[in-house]
Amino acid sequence: MKISVYAIPASIDDRDLKERIAVVIDVLRAASTIITALNNGCKEIIPTAEIEEAIMLAKNYEKDSFLLGGERNAVKIDGFDLSNSPYEYTPEAVKGRTVIMTTTNGTQAIRKANDAKEVIIGSFLNAEAVSRYIRHRGDDVVFVCAGTDGKFSLDDILVAGAMIDILEGMNTEMEMDDLALVSLHLYKSYKSNLKKALENAYHYKNLVRAGYEKDVDYCIQLNLFPIIPVYKDGTIRISQNFQG
Ligand code: MLT
Repeated sequence: MKISVYAIPASIDDRDLKERIAVVIDVLRAASTIITALNNGCKEIIPTAEIEEAIMLAKNYEKDSFLLGGERNAVKIDGFDLSNSPYEYTPEAVKGRTVIMTTTNGTQAIRKANDAKEVIIGSFLNAEAVSRYIRHRGDDVVFVCAGTDGKFSLDDILVAGAMIDILEGMNTEMEMDDLALVSLHLYKSYKSNLKKALENAYHYKNLVRAGYEKDVDYCIQLNLFPIIPVYKDGTIRISQNFQG
């Protein structure tokens, strides 16, 4: 299978996605938060690019059946119920509810991957389940890293590297592009201490400075949730067809 890694969504041409599975990665923190919310019983997540779009969509939902979540500059949006911290997406908060979510980079990347054969959301939290799913499907794969503010973000390629490492461990035949090779090497060099790889990275430092070190520690945990979140028809839900 061909494995490509894109450093930022803007570098992807729609043709790169055709007939491939896209794994969208925004490990700090949108993808990790989405995976946590779904694991905690959230019915579905609707990612939007703009704040206004999220607010308009919310008008279609009954009171108490939905939550507005997300951030701008890592901070909760005025009038929203939840920020982008995975710790806020508890079973008590999200169970049975729709979350309409907008974040600076992550939800944009998900929308950008729309033309892929299938779009799944990945982070360290579900790395093994996603790798098993990819191997099971056997299609070529595009890892779409969300980046930070339009720029490459080290944290996301580490997740791509983790998944490629797991695929390699399963003796998957892979033809990797150069960024896939870099992702794999970087991950292998730091897999016993992921925090060390991140400590000088821009997005990591921003989150720690803003007081979110606990969130970062949470997001770099491997394989907590064996779920496959699939983005289809504008909505992210857990795939019921695969046991990770
Ligand atoms: C994003 O989608 O831009 C990020 O998840 C930002 C954040 O860490 O809150």
